[in-house]
Amino acid sequence: METISINNINLAYQRRGRGAPLVLIHGFPLDHTIWERTVRFLDDKFDLLLPDLRGFGGSSTVESQYSMEDMAADLAGLLDHLHIEKAFVAGHSMGGYLALAFARRYPERMLGLGLVSSQLPADPPDRKEGRYKTASDVAEKGVVVVADAMAPKLTSKPALESQLHKLIQNQSQAGVIGALKAMAERSDSTSLVSGLRFPVVLVHGDKDALIPIERAREVRTAQPDAQLLELADVGHMPMMEAPFETAWALKQLIR
Ligand code: MLT
Repeated sequence: METISINNINLAYQRRGRGAPLVLIHGFPLDHTIWERTVRFLDDKFDLLLPDLRGFGGSSTVESQYSMEDMAADLAGLLDHLHIEKAFVAGHSMGGYLALAFARRYPERMLGLGLVSSQLPADPPDRKEGRYKTASDVAEKGVVVVADAMAPKLTSKPALESQLHKLIQNQSQAGVIGALKAMAERSDSTSLVSGLRFPVVLVHGDKDALIPIERAREVRTAQPDAQLLELADVGHMPMMEAPFETAWALKQLIR
């Protein structure tokens, strides 16, 4: 992995493939390695940038509170560093919230948007409260609390579940807490999506136990030009559970 210093953090990323720039953003509380199986179906068409978001993987942790917009500024800094003016930006779940924050703040830098197992609405009050409760549980008992609660909901495939449990446990306490609070405070993106003037691709599993497939259908309602790939028997991790199909959908961004 490469690392750059930006916005007072070290941001780690991988760069793979050749073609149009595509940033692939991991979800919570994971890192860039979730895209591994999908990358091999994308690297002939895209110049892939796979960052570890602040607080995750090989990137720095930050103790003070930050927002989705701060994380979007990290991505803009990465593009600046690589002299990339515009890119396709696709995110998984929380990575989708971040891709939307990026589109809101830097619309002129977007070639297209991909949302994998993600959604548009902000957290309702009970969900927001639950995030803060989880954050204090993690501060008290460690990241294992989230690994135990989330891994079984990410996928119903046992080998993947144990791989993801390990991946979550390897993440830092500060990163998990920081991201929980950033997600709790994120903006609603429903009105943003209806005004987008670039291609939008959606990928969602019909067995997603964390974000139901109806959320992806709602994006289509808000943006009828968006292309939606619904994956049968796939949970919250299409890029691991159905990598070929996920890559196929993301290639539809290049029209
Ligand atoms: C994710 O997979 O990134 C998170 O579960 C999203 C969320 O908690 O809203």
